[in-house]
Formats: sequence, structure tokens, C-alpha cells
Amino acid sequence: MFIVVAVDRNRAIGKNGGLLYRIPHDMANFRELTIGKTIVYGRRTLETFPNQKPLEGRRNVILTHDKQFSCEGATIIHSTDELKQFPSRELYIIGGASVYQQLYRKCEYAFVTFIDNVTLDCDAFFPDIIAEGWERVVDTPVLYYKGLPYQFITYKNPNPVD
Ligand SMILES: NC(=O)c1ccc[n+]([C@@H]2O[C@H](COP(=O)([O-])OP(=O)(O)OC[C@H]3O[C@@H](n4cnc5c(N)ncnc54)[C@H](OP(=O)(O)O)[C@@H]3O)[C@@H](O)[C@H]2O)c1
Repeated sequence: MFIVVAVDRNRAIGKNGGLLYRIPHDMANFRELTIGKTIVYGRRTLETFPNQKPLEGRRNVILTHDKQFSCEGATIIHSTDELKQFPSRELYIIGGASVYQQLYRKCEYAFVTFIDNVTLDCDAFFPDIIAEGWERVVDTPVLYYKGLPYQFITYKNPNPVD
């Protein structure tokens, strides 16, 4: 199981239900990482996608407690236990905050886009994996998009739980 996330200097990932940044290179990297894989996300994250539709070229698995909820082109699950039906190595956890919080300890690697900036009044955050001993194993140089510094960093979880 893997994580894909974009965080800022405060580990913020969202504000008012939306993303903080839209960096084309980050979106391309996200696509490359997840294409052909199974992406797992919460019902609120679906609302951030274009036309609120599942992402093409990937199996979309959406978490919701709502038993009536349906979404064409997606598999709906009502508990993280239902993820056991999928091979763990296929699963890419892509948000949002509540889903990361529930699943990050099970993940082997986190593919993090680090945006070296601060946005005020954010309301969605990513767990402090560095404080929990995740090891930085790969990184790119600092890149820039319209003056905004960002970097792709891979972290390894020293002790994924089952
Ligand atoms: N920067 C990034 O990389 C990134 C990535 C993704 C999202 N985001 C941001 O994160 C924010 C959204 O995060 P969020 O925490 O508010 O929402 P979320 O995690 O996307 O979705 C939360 C919803 O998922 C469902 N859910 C979660 N855990 C469940 C479980 N164990 N069983 C059944 N259903 C479950 C519930 O849906 P129901 O209410 O329908 O029951 C819950 O309300 C937005 O600002 C978004 O832009 C950022």
C-alpha cells in the first residue's frame, strides 16, 4: 500500500474542501504513479475531481458510510476492512485527510510532493510521518512553478502495520 500526497510546509493538504496548489508537473507525476493502479479515496475527495467523476485509467475505490451512494465507474466501500479484497501492492491511498489518517500506518512508502510554502487557514492536514521515523529515501532537486518551490520526496515507513 502506498500514499500519494501534496503537502506544504505545515503538512497542510487542503482548504475549504479544495486542494491548495495546482502544479502541472505534480499532476503529471500523480498520473504516472497511479495510472493502471487502484486509487483509494474518501467521498469528499471525489468532489475535488473534474466534474466530480472518477479518474480514468485507474480502478477508483471510494470510501463512504452512505449505503445509498453510487458512482458510475467506481467501486464503493463502506469500511477500510473492505480493502483486503485488493492486493496491497496495487493500492494507492490518495486522500483526503481522514483517509490518510486511517491508512498511513499500513503504507510502505509515501510519494510526497513537498511545496515549500505556507497557506493560511487550512483545514486538512497530513500526519507527521517524519516525526514517526519515516525515512527519506529518494528526492528530486528543488523545482519551481511560477516561482513556487516544490520537490518530489519518497519516504519509507520503517514499520508498516498489517
Ligand atoms: N494535497 C493532497 O494531496 C490532497 C489529496 C486528496 C485530498 N486533499 C484535500 O483533503 C480534503 C478532504 O479531506 P477530508 O478528510 O475532508 O475528506 P476525505 O478523506 O476525502 O473524505 C471523507 C469522507 O470519506 C468517507 N470515509 C472516510 N473514512 C471512511 C471509513 N472508514 N468508512 C466509510 N467511509 C469513510 C466519509 O464519507 P461520508 O461522509 O460519505 O460517509 C467521509 O466523510 C480536501 O481539502 C481535499 O482537497 C488533498
